[in-house]
This record gives sequence, structure tokens and C-alpha cells, in this order.
Amino acid sequence: MPISRRKAIGLIGGGAVLAASAAAGGFLATRTPTRALQPWGLAGDYDDKRKNALSYAILAPNPHNRQPWLADLSQADTIVLHRDTARDLPETDPYDRQLTIGMGCFVELLALAAAQDGYAIDFSFFPDGEAGPVAVAQFANGGRPDPLFAHVMARRSCKQPFEQRAVPADMVAALAPYAAIIDDEATVAELIDLTWQAWLVEANTHRTMKESVDLMRFGKTQINANPDGIDLGGPLLESLMALGMLSRDALLDPDSTGFKQGAEIYRELLQATPAYAVLTSAGNSRLDQIEAGRAWLRLNLATTGLGLALHPVSQALQEYPEMAPHYERAHTMLAEPGHTVQMLGRLGFGPAVAQTPRWPVETRIMNGSG
Ligand SMILES: Cc1cc2nc3c(=O)[nH]c(=O)nc-3n(C[C@H](O)[C@H](O)[C@H](O)COP(=O)(O)O)c2cc1C
Repeated sequence: MPISRRKAIGLIGGGAVLAASAAAGGFLATRTPTRALQPWGLAGDYDDKRKNALSYAILAPNPHNRQPWLADLSQADTIVLHRDTARDLPETDPYDRQLTIGMGCFVELLALAAAQDGYAIDFSFFPDGEAGPVAVAQFANGGRPDPLFAHVMARRSCKQPFEQRAVPADMVAALAPYAAIIDDEATVAELIDLTWQAWLVEANTHRTMKESVDLMRFGKTQINANPDGIDLGGPLLESLMALGMLSRDALLDPDSTGFKQGAEIYRELLQATPAYAVLTSAGNSRLDQIEAGRAWLRLNLATTGLGLALHPVSQALQEYPEMAPHYERAHTMLAEPGHTVQMLGRLGFGPAVAQTPRWPVETRIMNGSG
């Protein structure tokens, strides 16, 4: 097998492929998509309180890193927050449930950043119904900093195999206020199987796999040009691209060696999971989805603070016909009858991983004056 799995761990159909550090330092340095990562360095650098909070909020986790947020700043002390429907994921997220959860992650990070700066935000969600803005955020003096804010810059979605060690009981207890944590062996084994079967459905269903593959950015130049989607970068992967071994065509062809290697890497990754975190909700309204996103962001910050890694694995929660049996199995296992599983994530001890690209905050502002 030409790819060393220990050096290049990848995942297709829902995640980044990350190259490892074993490669030559010089080439590694030159393959880092520095421009696409700049927004991480600029967070907190803005005089305007709204732009300052937005400069953190754009670092929120979100499906396929689409970053569908748009902020209208035309009214004083106010952000009117929209979801950019040009960034929808019609195949894997036909009802925009996951995208709305991503907006919830953004909202929570916005609130945390504003509070850190001494502002409280009063949110009005979907004031004009679903077709209008996601939220109107009104800034006022008086926010109280939240200790979770300390982990904003280190937060990641860790798309890597986790160490074969249990999550200690005190950490499971510390996370109980944020999510349901599953760490009993039998249920973990069943969830490993569920997430793998669901991944196979997404990867072998041409239109859903194509949606992901179309959003892949191959190498530094493409990542810098489009700092969203699924970034495939680093020296090892760029070498494979140069050799023609990693390409859109190969990833879309279940018979290709590249596809089979990617699948095997992903299977091993899913197996290296000691625990899961689950968020469910009794209803499934847009507001429930926003709340799930807010909760996920807080969970992700709390896990970061504990030195734990978190990785959403959403395939079984997706709402298209081919996935229906796995969706049903996930709900039977994880939710009360009639409730919705909003998020399922792998939890454990993972390696340090790189930041993912972001569009500069200025490009997400519809109207800069106000
Ligand atoms: C609602 C939602 C669903 C997600 N589903 C997946 C998933 O199925 N697989 C995956 O690898 N990452 C998933 N992610 C993580 C995103 O890919 C990740 O947040 C994005 O690439 C940005 O990276 P970061 O979180 O490390 O900043 C999901 C994130 C959200 C908010």
C-alpha cells in the first residue's frame, strides 16, 4: 500500500485530510495555506465591538466548513445575521438542519466573544420567520466573561484516530452538563458500527459523495483561493496529488485504489473511538437546532479545556432516503421516541491538529457602515 497510514490520515465524505509532521520541514512550511489561516490570527483585533465579536464567531465549527454566515451591520449596535443559502448542502443536509446547527455554534461564539469584551447580546431569533434573518443581535453594555472563552483558539474538530484509552470518569462527569456521554463498551461498539455503515452509504451514493468531493480543496493554492469546504493539504497529500493518486475522479470511483484506501483509513479512524457525545432535542424546530449548535460549541470548548478531542460524525443523522435505516437506528439507540438526535461526536484523546481555513471576517459582512 503506497500511502503510509501513519503519516497521512484522511477522511473523505465529511472531513479534512491532514498530513503529518514526518515530512521534510522546508516543504511542510511552504505548503501551509498561510493566507487561509490568517483570520485565526486576526481574531480580537477590531475596534468596532460587533466586528470584534464577529472575528471570533467566524471560527465556529460548521458543516463542511461552508461558513454560511452573513452579517448586516447597517443598524447601530446591531448585527442582523443571515444564513447564505448559496452555501447550502442540498444532498447531505436537505432540510438545512445541520447548517442551522452551525449557525447556532456561530451565535454562541458571538455571544461569548462579546461578553469577553464587556457586552451582552440580546438575540431575537428568526424574527421574520424562516425566510428572514437567523437572528437580530443587539449589543448592550454588561456582558460577563465566560471561562469557556479561554479555549476558543485551541478548539478543533479532531478528524483523527484517538488513543486507545478510556475517557476518565471525572472527565465524563465534568461533561455531563454539556451532553450525554456514552462510554460503555457495548454501546460504543455499536456506534462504531453504525457510523461506519452510515459513512459507507454516503461514500457509495454518488450524489452525496459528489457534494463533498466538489467541496474539496486540493492543496495550498486551492485552499488559499477558497478557504472553506474540505481542505486537503500538507506535503504528503500534495505529493500524492502531483502523482495523480489523489484526485476528484478517484474519490468518486468506489472501484479505485484511492477510494478503497480512503475508506480503510476512515474505518480505522472510526474504530479508534473510546466514547461518544450526543445531543438530542425533544422538538426539531429551527430554534431547537440553534440551541443544539450553541450547546455543541460549549461542549467543544469544554472538551478542549479538558484536553479531550471531539469529532462530529453526522452521516447517520442525515436525512435522505438511502440513509433512512441508519437514521432510524441512531434514533432508536440514542433518543427517546419522537425526539431528534441533533449531534453525534467521537470523544477521546486525540493528536493536536491544525486550524481549518476561514474566509476573512470582512468578506462575511454585507454592509460595513452603521
Ligand atoms: C452540524 C455539524 C456537523 C458536522 N459533521 C461533520 C461530520 O460528519 N464529519 C466531520 O468530519 N466533521 C463534521 N463537522 C465538523 C466540521 O467539518 C468542522 O467544524 C469544520 O470543518 C471546521 O473545522 P473546525 O471545527 O476544526 O474549526 C460538523 C460540524 C457541524 C457544526
